[in-house]
Amino acid sequence: MTSEMRDFIKAGGLGDVSAALPRVLSHEHDIRVLLPAYRAVLKSGSALKIVGHTRMRDGLPACDIGELVTRDGLRILVVCHDALFNREGSPYADARGEGWEDNDVRFAALSSVAADIASGHAGLDWQPDLLHLNDWTCALAACYLDWRHQATPSVLTIHNLAYQGVFPESSTQRIGAPKKATELDFHGGVSFLRGGMMRADCLTTVSDSYARQIIDPIYGCGMDRLLARCRNEGRLIGILNGIDQSWNPLYDDALPEPFSIGQWDKRRQNTADLRGELGLHTIPGPLFVFVSRMVHQKGLDLVCEAAPQIIAAGGQLALIGRGEPMYERMATMLAKRFTGRVATHIGFNEAVAHRMFAGADFLLMPSRYEPCGLSQMYAQAYGCLPIAHATGGLNDTIEDGVSGLLFQNARVSDLRNCLQRAFRIFAEPLLLEAMRGAAMLEKHGWSRSGRQYTHLYRRLCTQKAVA
Ligand code: ADP
Ligand code: GLC
Repeated sequence: MTSEMRDFIKAGGLGDVSAALPRVLSHEHDIRVLLPAYRAVLKSGSALKIVGHTRMRDGLPACDIGELVTRDGLRILVVCHDALFNREGSPYADARGEGWEDNDVRFAALSSVAADIASGHAGLDWQPDLLHLNDWTCALAACYLDWRHQATPSVLTIHNLAYQGVFPESSTQRIGAPKKATELDFHGGVSFLRGGMMRADCLTTVSDSYARQIIDPIYGCGMDRLLARCRNEGRLIGILNGIDQSWNPLYDDALPEPFSIGQWDKRRQNTADLRGELGLHTIPGPLFVFVSRMVHQKGLDLVCEAAPQIIAAGGQLALIGRGEPMYERMATMLAKRFTGRVATHIGFNEAVAHRMFAGADFLLMPSRYEPCGLSQMYAQAYGCLPIAHATGGLNDTIEDGVSGLLFQNARVSDLRNCLQRAFRIFAEPLLLEAMRGAAMLEKHGWSRSGRQYTHLYRRLCTQKAVA
């Protein structure tokens, strides 16, 4: 279950993973994806059939359960409740970026329905052997299973520990938590993620490096001790995300000039077209891009600080993203200061993001932390070399000096040194092309991780059956 899926609505990498992983796993398992019936889902044009219903329970509203089938045959279950989910905006926030006030009830309702489906109380002719929960928005499902004495095993994947679903203590009543329940307690309030971490049978994170990092107070967001305990019990593991077949520059409809490895002239055409599209001058120097949510995690401030060096050395910079107003302003001002040399697009546009990976020479990802990161893998697949902080999944997917460049500390001085390396590589076309080729050949598919999930599911189902 998930709170976003690229087929309908996407805020970040979770949307991509929720679209890719079930499709991989459906070769081995009978999968249903459960998500809220957001307006984007209802308006998607897919035929929606009501197949089940949950009753009002623990103060949470009754919901219909709809089913739709994607063109490639994936079955999606959606939780229908107009007042909770049928509204304009992102899954989490309104058009101004303010989190929805009733997010506790919205995602408690989603989680409660998941537990009802698992226990056969939703009127469906199908019941899962296991629930796979993603992030805080789904985490409560593990608690509802426990509170209702249901034995279905659950896996909780933490895509980003910084988002913990923290609400005031008064939420406990709104979500129907039992009075004695302590698993949600977090600094005087409640944390949905903590509840899920306490009650799920296994926790996964989206890279090995991040699974090791989060047991340290620096990365643990206040959960490091609990996570260290889980790790010691063998209940916390890292399974790296992959990227799906849709990221192939040879079959990408968004590109003016599709290309494959070695077709560098065609790639250069994409660069020229991208410059035109973004209003950047035609120059011989390298083009750097930043494609990301504009939030503290992603290190946009470091990019802005280093930007004058890029311009002075004869390069250009293009940024696309949206997020916190402070960072959006920073990016907009940079473009005003360096007209024709820096281009900023505030917004979310998948097609532009594809063209940026296909046309840019380097992707900047100075993330302060990065559970996995998908953009660096997309960039590699499109021959754009990532320049990244060696943290989390960036560390696990980029080979320094081969398929990208890594720097050790999320500091502007480290980024600057790395930029100098990038300019030197750009000045040697043979080396640049060899690295582009190596990046495009990186194997970032889902098959290995898919097998790891399958193995984990089987183990948990067997353990629960024996217990
Ligand atoms: P996160 O999930 O932390 O945002 P990831 O790198 O895992 O980071 O995934 C981000 C995804 O969102 C990638 O597919 C990236 O290309 C996409 N993305 C981010 N910002 C934008 C944007 N403004 N427009 C289009 N795609 C974007
Ligand atoms: C989160 C993380 C990102 C990860 C994505 C998908 O949003 O910030 O690193 O790639 O989830 O797992």
